[in-house]
Amino acid sequence: MAQIIDGKRISKEIKDELKNKVAEYKAQGVEIALAVIQVGKDPASTVYVGNKKKACEYIGIQSVAYELPEDTTEEELLAIIDKLNQDDSIYGILVQLPLPKHMNEDHILKAIDPKKDVDGFHPQSVGALSIGQPGFVSCTPAGIIQLLKRSGIEIAGKECVVVGRSNIVGKPMALLLLRENGTVTICHSKTADLREVTRRADILVVAIGKPKMIDASYVKEGAVVIDVGIHRNEENKLCGDVDYTSVEPVASAITPVPGGVGPMTIAMLMNNCVEAVELRKA
Ligand code: GUN
Repeated sequence: MAQIIDGKRISKEIKDELKNKVAEYKAQGVEIALAVIQVGKDPASTVYVGNKKKACEYIGIQSVAYELPEDTTEEELLAIIDKLNQDDSIYGILVQLPLPKHMNEDHILKAIDPKKDVDGFHPQSVGALSIGQPGFVSCTPAGIIQLLKRSGIEIAGKECVVVGRSNIVGKPMALLLLRENGTVTICHSKTADLREVTRRADILVVAIGKPKMIDASYVKEGAVVIDVGIHRNEENKLCGDVDYTSVEPVASAITPVPGGVGPMTIAMLMNNCVEAVELRKA
């Protein structure tokens, strides 16, 4: 029986720690505010943004919502970001992705002051991570490191295999595992023999975006398996990139979907908002 890595419990633990920190900051007169910008009405984005606002409320962070129409121009959005960059009461700025097609995501993300870049998507944040300097780290991979650490799983010296090379998950995940002294391999759609590589992993992180693609044949006996995927299957039930029923018997520990990696992303966003206070002083 694999250890089930309980992201719901661990994210609650982190949020409760942050709640105490936020109360301490409040006592010192520091009020943390996060600006959340949504352009258009993508239904999934509306759910994510709603969850972020709820988490802010729970922790005691003020959320300032910008709900902009779909036809907002890039210039208008850049002007709002500029205003928020200048506003000392705002500690974090989050632009919910995806943006409407007429906007250039890179332009927008680059406009956010790196000291307020709580998503960790700014090129300066990514660069700082790669050379071990202070800066914000993308929330999902940062959350996975917390899942491993708080479940008592050692990373140093382990064979870590990351499947997926996205800017938001795969690449920063590999850098974070490296920072923890793991031996890291990144796989992707052009990897010649994926199974051969994943079967080497002591820690396997899967972020490929294909429902239930990784079954037991990809997993070494006793591996720790982290599933970043989230999909709806034929029966409208949630599932991950990992075939849980197949993999659970061979893994030593595994994250479920839902309730594994998912809840950690928002907890780490909240963590970044709190870290923004210290980062501003740096
Ligand atoms: N869209 C889906 N996930 C995310 C995220 O973590 N941050 C932002 N800004 N947009 C997203």
